[in-house]
Amino acid sequence: MFLSTEKKQLSELPRNCTFPENDWHILAGFWHPVAFSSQVKDKPAKAKLLDVDLVIYRTVDGIAAARDLCVHRGAALSLGWMDEDCKNIVCPFHGLHYNKDGECTKVPSMPDQSKPIPKSIRLISYRAQERYGLVWVCLKPEAIRPIPEWPLLENAGDEWLTIEIPEGLWKASASRHVENFNDLAHISWVHMKTFGNRERPEIIDYKLELDDNGMRMEMPYIEVERGYNDDEGEREREVYYTHFFTFPFATDLQVDYKTDDGGHVTSHFYDIGTPISAHETAIFQISQTNIPGATAEDYAEYQLVTNEEDLALVESQKPEEVPLNIAEELHIPADKFSIQYRRALVRLFNLGAPEMTE
Ligand code: FES
Ligand SMILES: [Fe+2]
Repeated sequence: MFLSTEKKQLSELPRNCTFPENDWHILAGFWHPVAFSSQVKDKPAKAKLLDVDLVIYRTVDGIAAARDLCVHRGAALSLGWMDEDCKNIVCPFHGLHYNKDGECTKVPSMPDQSKPIPKSIRLISYRAQERYGLVWVCLKPEAIRPIPEWPLLENAGDEWLTIEIPEGLWKASASRHVENFNDLAHISWVHMKTFGNRERPEIIDYKLELDDNGMRMEMPYIEVERGYNDDEGEREREVYYTHFFTFPFATDLQVDYKTDDGGHVTSHFYDIGTPISAHETAIFQISQTNIPGATAEDYAEYQLVTNEEDLALVESQKPEEVPLNIAEELHIPADKFSIQYRRALVRLFNLGAPEMTE
């Protein structure tokens, strides 16, 4: 009921943190998307990242992120609103105002409004920026890696259709989601409503290159085309997959399709898993295509059906966490991506370090 009289610094780690402490501090050093920009307009939005409850709000001075906690009496700021000039978020409990940087700019109950407000009254604010139509947050003052570089998403010509897929929530860890998104052997088994080809389960010894920011892998595949309004039935089509993966949870999957006239068209499936907790992941996806006649509705539906196919399996995986000790799961040759991913998370970032015991 009461907290003790002992003076405590408000811990950087969230209450009920589901991550090992070491991993939390490392993951907090990356940029993660927490919302589509279109979800944060004139009202504050609620989000969660690494077990930290966040409020995201848009001021005339820019986008802002803070702990969803008013420092006065701990009410959730996401229940509040923006002031008339859109300069401050207003706490709904006693009306304290906070600007983009989290500084308190107004205490309405103070009889003398000309008195300065102590600088110490400020929110726990985090770095926030918008890119690719997404709001990205980093919980540390310095990010250890930049936001993924996806030039086509920033500068697409008119021939490209760009589609934001409705945000998903998976009861699975972000790393299990990433491995699934980049798992080539599962396609012929799991995606039988969409593009998988059960007759072609073999995975060639595919190319994979690794650097300090991510991995690139490529592989040809023969998909089965199953259109939604398809009167022609099923037919095989040759595709070429190139995965541009950025640590720790972001992928740009480029799919090149051969066309009947000998040319080719391309789609990109951008996918980022944001770790809400160690066992829950928000899925942010954007699709982009230059296939003539493609519609946003069909594309979004196709992606959602594809996700649905993956979901039950990924949520069933045990342990929920990806084991970073390679010996702990069995591997087949097609697992080159996940083996390199697990090794790199340890080697480059020191994730999965043994916990200190007293
Ligand atoms: S709790 Fe926010 S103003 Fe009092
Ligand atoms: Fe899949």
